[in-house]
Amino acid sequence: MTQDIFSYYSKMRCEDPVSFNRESGSWDVFDYEDVYYVLMHNEIFSSDPSYSGRVPDGRRGPGASFITIDNPDHKELRNISAPFFLPSSIEKYSEHIKKISSGIISSLKPDQDFISGYAVGLPVNVISDLLGVPESERQMFKTWSDYIIGNRRDGGFDQINRYMYAKMSEIFSDKQGDDIMSVINRGSFKSAPLSNEQKIGYVMLLVIGGNETTTNLLGNMVKVLSENPGIQELLRENREYYKNFIEETLRYYSPIQFLPHRFAAENHVLHGRQIKKGDKVSIWLGSANRDEKAFDNPEEFMINRRKNNHLAFGMGVHMCLGAPLARLEAEIGLGDILGKFDSIKVNRKKSKMLDNPMVYGFSELYLE
Ligand code: HEM
Repeated sequence: MTQDIFSYYSKMRCEDPVSFNRESGSWDVFDYEDVYYVLMHNEIFSSDPSYSGRVPDGRRGPGASFITIDNPDHKELRNISAPFFLPSSIEKYSEHIKKISSGIISSLKPDQDFISGYAVGLPVNVISDLLGVPESERQMFKTWSDYIIGNRRDGGFDQINRYMYAKMSEIFSDKQGDDIMSVINRGSFKSAPLSNEQKIGYVMLLVIGGNETTTNLLGNMVKVLSENPGIQELLRENREYYKNFIEETLRYYSPIQFLPHRFAAENHVLHGRQIKKGDKVSIWLGSANRDEKAFDNPEEFMINRRKNNHLAFGMGVHMCLGAPLARLEAEIGLGDILGKFDSIKVNRKKSKMLDNPMVYGFSELYLE
């Protein structure tokens, strides 16, 4: 469990805050102010990979995912489900999520891996519940989402993808209520109803966006609790600190460390560096969230932090659609974690961090 990436960010912010990375072939942006600027200027720093001259298969067009589309098309697609994801709408699912969480945590054994035993299951079950995936199909849904996220790479994808397409189409066929599938079912784009392909693309984006990120947030909360026994005590005595704790965890150990997909739509000078139209830009949220120019004592976990405008959910037009759901799951999860374990201490020898610079979290997490 290394802190090295954070020292690396600090060095880069000091020496070369906007630098060209030959290995990835993209500009790396490290300062809060610049990361914020890129996020807020989607018309200059587009999310559409076609600006790079190379359009990866299935990564463009409304059938794929609106995370790689610019406005106005992006907005039209996002708005189909945006009202559903408002905090006031998501709050309605609170009791449901509590039931799911307590069910999973009660079967977690003290010596079991927390990630596979709880942190993976909570978001997967919550999203499949919201999508109306029946209990009997949950395991299949989980395998499908692992393929989509890229956690599985064997040759079984086509078969399971065909199966899930048929299953999703079946679920869509009788959805006329106010749940998320019905909302997507009624959706239209450029005055035409969404095709089946587009609807399933929409579901895939929710699966990709919501599962691994929330899993990592839950694991990272345990890491912070382990590193700060005093905070454990504070939270046990006072639920009012839950929200601050979650926001500070998002800042301190951001589940997504960088976003690799912005493309310059025009020539632009950023922090004195000439970025050319078509250049790829990676924005380092994890570094921005530790920038001393934006946060007091950024290397310190401060549960009482007053101003915490972290960028863990991004910012601007593509800001995380599922943030209210992730926050609610984290809040319910935190209560259940503190209730389950009297004292939380990570077993550093047995636990492993993920080996992927884009995400921050555990692949395996054992408690002592
Ligand atoms: C702790 C958990 C989460 C983190 C850290 C996270 C982070 C992010 C970030 C940084 C973005 C911005 C991407 C960009 O600007 O290119 C994003 C977008 C998105 N997220 Fe999340 N996310 C989380 C949970 C969720 C959940 C639970 C869902 C839904 C079920 C979700 C759905 C989405 C969607 C649909 C987008 C695309 C929004 C758009 O392009 O307009 N996320 N997320």
